[in-house]
Amino acid sequence: MISVRPLSAVLGCEIGGIDLAAGIDAETFTACENALHEHLVAVLPGQRLDPHQFMGFARRFGRPEPHVINQFHHPADPNILILSNVRVDGRPTGLADAGTYFHSDYSYLDVPARCTMLYALDVPATGAGTTFANQRQAWEELPARTKARIEDLVCRHHYGNRDDLDEESRTAASRLTPDQKARVDWVRHPLVRKHRHTGRKALYAVSGSSFGIEGMDDPAAVALLDELKVHATQPKYRFTYNYRPGDVVIWDNASLLHAAPLVDMSRPRTLWRITVKDPGPTLQSFASPRN
Ligand SMILES: [Fe+2]
Repeated sequence: MISVRPLSAVLGCEIGGIDLAAGIDAETFTACENALHEHLVAVLPGQRLDPHQFMGFARRFGRPEPHVINQFHHPADPNILILSNVRVDGRPTGLADAGTYFHSDYSYLDVPARCTMLYALDVPATGAGTTFANQRQAWEELPARTKARIEDLVCRHHYGNRDDLDEESRTAASRLTPDQKARVDWVRHPLVRKHRHTGRKALYAVSGSSFGIEGMDDPAAVALLDELKVHATQPKYRFTYNYRPGDVVIWDNASLLHAAPLVDMSRPRTLWRITVKDPGPTLQSFASPRN
């Protein structure tokens, strides 16, 4: 028997009674999926997984895709990105800082991430959590007039953090090599997304990779996106989850913004990450020009 316990009033749940290493049946997987769609973040504590077991669970949600940053792929499977501040012989063993500003994973790709999964191997006891913001609730609580004004808008996205483009900064997007930069382009997403599984609407990636809105000049678009970001990241929409060793944490990128912590480099922290893609683009048509 599995149990689902909410972690806060705004989002997050812990699912008990699951041993992923032993494998789960279809009914248990559906219960996990439903809990994720309801609570947007699902924590499965006390797991002991090898890379193949972790990947096997991830594949049930969809197709994983390796991160554009390919220096820290797991040797057993390139779909696993190693997040770590540990250095061996002076060389980093993983990506240390990643996404320390509010963003949605892979929103700079035309097919973004359905969900992201972290497996915590070695984490400090405190202060190493990810902060999530519930974009479904943020949408629902907008004034009706604002909803009508923004509902059909389409945003232009690109890899990066709209608020910090200084590549030397720890709060910019992780730095890309020239080759990696050549592989990212402008993409389009709706400002308000309908969830593929629940049909519920949410503000989508109003912080992070959104740099413009079609049909608006850039200063006006950024002003609107900034206004929505301030609304959508208010403390009442936020919950921070502090990882424990053995946690598998899954979040729903269509309905959340999240921000990783600025990592304390003096305390070892290592997690594995798998990012699972949506089944297709967020917009049906790509006929409009990328202005
Ligand atoms: Fe992220």
